Amino acid sequence: MQKLFSSFPLKKLILKNRVVMPPVHIAGYNVAEGTITDKHWLHYTNIAKGGVGLIIMEATAVAPYGRLSDHQLSLWDDRSQDAFQRLIAECHKYGAKVFIQLFYCGCLSSIIDQNADRFAPSVYKSLYRGIEVIGRPMRLEDIKAVCRDFADASIRAKKYGFDGVELHFAHSYLLSQFLSPLVNKRDDEYGGSKEKRVRFPVEIIKSVRERLEDDFIVGVRMGSNENTLQDSLYYARTFEKAGADFIHISAGFNNDLPPDLAYPADSKLSWIAYSAGMFKKELKIPVIAVNKITTPELAGYVIDNGFADLVSLARAHLIDPDWCNKAQNHQKINYCLGCKSGCKWFKDPSKCPAKLLSGRGKSELI
Ligand SMILES: Cc1cc2nc3c(=O)[nH]c(=O)nc-3n(C[C@H](O)[C@H](O)[C@H](O)COP(=O)(O)O)c2cc1C
Repeated sequence: MQKLFSSFPLKKLILKNRVVMPPVHIAGYNVAEGTITDKHWLHYTNIAKGGVGLIIMEATAVAPYGRLSDHQLSLWDDRSQDAFQRLIAECHKYGAKVFIQLFYCGCLSSIIDQNADRFAPSVYKSLYRGIEVIGRPMRLEDIKAVCRDFADASIRAKKYGFDGVELHFAHSYLLSQFLSPLVNKRDDEYGGSKEKRVRFPVEIIKSVRERLEDDFIVGVRMGSNENTLQDSLYYARTFEKAGADFIHISAGFNNDLPPDLAYPADSKLSWIAYSAGMFKKELKIPVIAVNKITTPELAGYVIDNGFADLVSLARAHLIDPDWCNKAQNHQKINYCLGCKSGCKWFKDPSKCPAKLLSGRGKSELI
């Protein structure tokens, strides 16, 4: 477990340990006009104080129509420059490095009305809050515009003092849809084969990379099940070649175990965290594992057994922002109860039973 708390270099950026707070967007924080609230300030500074090596701030929209909802942070203009700068500087004081996750929702957005543009790779029907939404195929000029949006947002992130960005290509949103043959039915140069499906995400990486110096970290979050493990490994190798500095392995368009992953039934890890090990074997760039890594022992197990270079703990940090310091000092940690009905933090953290049990239910954080 000692290795978990040893430093790790991401190019020239030195992380003080291998524990990461992954992106967590909390709609209940009620962002107004895309800006940071006092709740964000407490949330992120408490986690930084708690000893984590890297914070990847939540999914942040690169364009107004790219938002999932109007409760999301924005980086398409400079409205949040001061707030971001102060927040990053404060997190840096505690030794945490800070990235931000860049996001484009696509047709699952709640802020686009039925008649407006809902971007998708090809016609895609889905249900949003019980209403049928239909994604429309992106035109070539739309694809170019979104590449520019990602690059512009990355330049802003660098200007504000972020140490890097993570490009969100996972979890069924626009770029995950392009990677997934379940949704991407295009027959032009952006669909039809895995080589073509990967093209748009690669163009995003390249457009970000070519406008930033090499020492600014640009990573990718993607699924290991997009649609098979083999396709996903191919995507990851392609992202590495295109200039990605790390790969953060999560789920893709859906949450199903990839059919070609030999996942041992007795594994201590969830299949998502376990699958990170497959990418670690194939790539030269660092790999981050996530999903149900809760205890210091399990986090140490992931690192010591070569499943990943870094471990992300989301809900563990929501319940106990001091997770890292406590783990290092062998102190009692408050744990997530893994609510079967779904995590309350998505909408209303005050309903989180683990928070309430830990006596912090009424704290200023929620
Ligand atoms: C409330 C909540 C919000 C989340 N928001 C994001 C997000 O903005 N971007 C993202 O890529 N993943 C998001 N996730 C997924 C987490 O980053 C993480 O992958 C997931 O919670 C599994 O890790 P865990 O078992 O350590 O919680 C979110 C998860 C939760 C619970």
